[in-house]
Amino acid sequence: MNITNKIITSYINTLYTGSSPKLNELRAFAEEKRVPIILKDTEGLLLNLLRIKRPERLLEIGAAVGYSACCFAEGCGCSVTTIEADKETYETALSNVQNLGFDDKVKVLHGDAREVMENLASGISEEELYDVVFIDAAKSHYKAFWDLALPLCKDDALIICDNVLMKGMTASDEYDPNKKYKTSIRKMREFIKYITGLDYADTCILPVGDGVSISVIRKAGKV
Ligand SMILES: C[S@@+](CC[C@H](N)C(=O)[O-])C[C@H]1O[C@@H](n2cnc3c(N)ncnc32)[C@H](O)[C@@H]1O
Repeated sequence: MNITNKIITSYINTLYTGSSPKLNELRAFAEEKRVPIILKDTEGLLLNLLRIKRPERLLEIGAAVGYSACCFAEGCGCSVTTIEADKETYETALSNVQNLGFDDKVKVLHGDAREVMENLASGISEEELYDVVFIDAAKSHYKAFWDLALPLCKDDALIICDNVLMKGMTASDEYDPNKKYKTSIRKMREFIKYITGLDYADTCILPVGDGVSISVIRKAGKV
């Protein structure tokens, strides 16, 4: 189910002006191929958050075809490193980034983000730390992604996670009547409890798109 009222979402989507024509084309391509990319209302929220935060460096976990990475680079001029585990999807992201002319701003890395992040952390310098980490990959690994993101974050960095309400299932079992997603739901609930209970982070959960958590990290890497 949609976590937001259909009529309200449709109305908000009529206000969506999109990004540049080339990114609109990439959104249309992803939607046609049923590649899950950030929803329009989530995109609007994240772009304005980034405009307020004005990050220099953003790390994304889960590139898919490169849509959100290019969107962030275009929308706020930051440099984006994005990680994609699936080889074919990584190659599509890479060619989209090149064909759309974002290769000076967007770097696509291939591999399981848990390994790639460990490698990024080894020997990272102060200047290479990230202002924002956007987690948008396998939901059952969100806690691992979070823990691995911390040493990569500057103080006062934002960690933003998408899909945390899982079509309402995080809030109530009634949205998973056949208990198909029991384990993912349990893991997501544990993750939310974890991040909302940390003394070094301030977290809020917004019912936008499929649920977005926004956390401000006060003592990154020093926990
Ligand atoms: C929801 S899509 C990302 C959408 C993209 N952020 C956007 O909005 O354009 C999630 C992607 O994460 C990738 N993924 C899943 N688990 C991963 C992992 N452990 N490491 C890296 N990528 C992963 C999937 O292959 C998939 O392409």
